[in-house]
Amino acid sequence: MCQKMYIKEEYDKKHVIMNIGENMNILEIIDKKRKKQKLSKEEIEYMIQGYLDESIKDYQMSALLMAIVLNGMNEDEVVDLTTAMLNSGEVMDLSSISGIKVDKHSTGGVGDKTTLILAPLVASCGVPVAKMSGRGLGHTGGTIDKLESIPGFQVDLSVENFIREVNEIGLSIVSQTGNLVPADKKLYALRDVTGTVESIPLIASSIMSKKLASGADKIVIDVKVGNGALVKTIEEAKKLAQLMVHIGNSHQKETVCVITRMSEPLGCAIGNALEVLEGIEVLKGGGPEDLKELVLTLATIMVSLGLECQMEQASKLVKQNLENGKAYQKFLEFVKAQKGNLDELVVGPKIFSIKAPKSGIVNHIDALKLGELARSIGAGRMTKEDKIDYGVGFVLSKKVGDFVLQDEELMKVYLNEKDVHLDVLLSCFMIEDDYTNTEPLIHEIVK
Ligand code: URA
Repeated sequence: MCQKMYIKEEYDKKHVIMNIGENMNILEIIDKKRKKQKLSKEEIEYMIQGYLDESIKDYQMSALLMAIVLNGMNEDEVVDLTTAMLNSGEVMDLSSISGIKVDKHSTGGVGDKTTLILAPLVASCGVPVAKMSGRGLGHTGGTIDKLESIPGFQVDLSVENFIREVNEIGLSIVSQTGNLVPADKKLYALRDVTGTVESIPLIASSIMSKKLASGADKIVIDVKVGNGALVKTIEEAKKLAQLMVHIGNSHQKETVCVITRMSEPLGCAIGNALEVLEGIEVLKGGGPEDLKELVLTLATIMVSLGLECQMEQASKLVKQNLENGKAYQKFLEFVKAQKGNLDELVVGPKIFSIKAPKSGIVNHIDALKLGELARSIGAGRMTKEDKIDYGVGFVLSKKVGDFVLQDEELMKVYLNEKDVHLDVLLSCFMIEDDYTNTEPLIHEIVK
């Protein structure tokens, strides 16, 4: 009796979904969003399922994504979109890893190699890091591309090997493993090449569906703001942060967002192998101050959440482990475990200097333009099929606030097959007589 009722309910459920599907039409959904109307939960589920089973084509989804970029979504629609994406695949079970698992994600920036330093640092403090990262998106770089610039480095591990590595060394970073959020995998690649990256609802649902599926207990998000970020103003960054905290809370996951500066590149290196080298510099106790400050801030929050201790205690521990080399040792262990060979890292091969046209103070370095230029010389993809040129990119010799003499080096350029114009590179720097840029690195913590 019971068994029969169960089957009948399942049948009804399927039947209703089929009916909803049958009565729906992607053209009407595109049209609705074009007219700024709210999409229902069923329409959102239909759009995600249809895109996955290929009944909705790339060109139709591109049109819908563009309508969302232009006309937005309200909070309920974003929660429904996140849930539909989350339900498109499996959810990782990390219960066989002891301790509180804290995941971190960045909304994306230029020169953002934070994870390469942060993950081993946090792991060295005893907080397990089981992290799934992404590839480059638009003009922003991605941790997986950076790791793949290390010859031999394996980013595709089975779930078993991923969990085994975390249990053995406290850390693993992989590309989306298993069948986690396949909807985001497809949408992410499509958004990257259709000008539909910069949208608060699409960013929030993309990030939070992955973070919820990755099985972590707590979530920390670095929300980048400024011309090199996906959101350009503090107001937009706050909206994005509040939305992600709301999504996290509605799934009972403590979520903390840190709004940070992305009006100039983070650190000095932009480009995959170059960023790995800069990450190593920081792990060895050197490196650019802004990058180090951001790593210490995020690591303190993660360790405090993971060890359930006060921020002061966490801060002391992370500083200590960055200085005493424990974080660097953990990084080397991690690279070895994932079969990377740092001795074979390649940059360039063509290297030249950009010199300052006049003396003065560097007041602005255009992160967006440098990110786009890095992408155009091969550090990122212009089409889904493009192969990345891991050794190319830029390394700033001056940061915002630095004094520069005429003819002194502003930046080194690393090229391989593609070229870039000197004038375009120079136009990324604003050199003035006085220092006028006083934007802080850490804007606000939202929780
Ligand atoms: N990072 C993501 O994972 N998704 C976005 O949409 C933007 C940044």
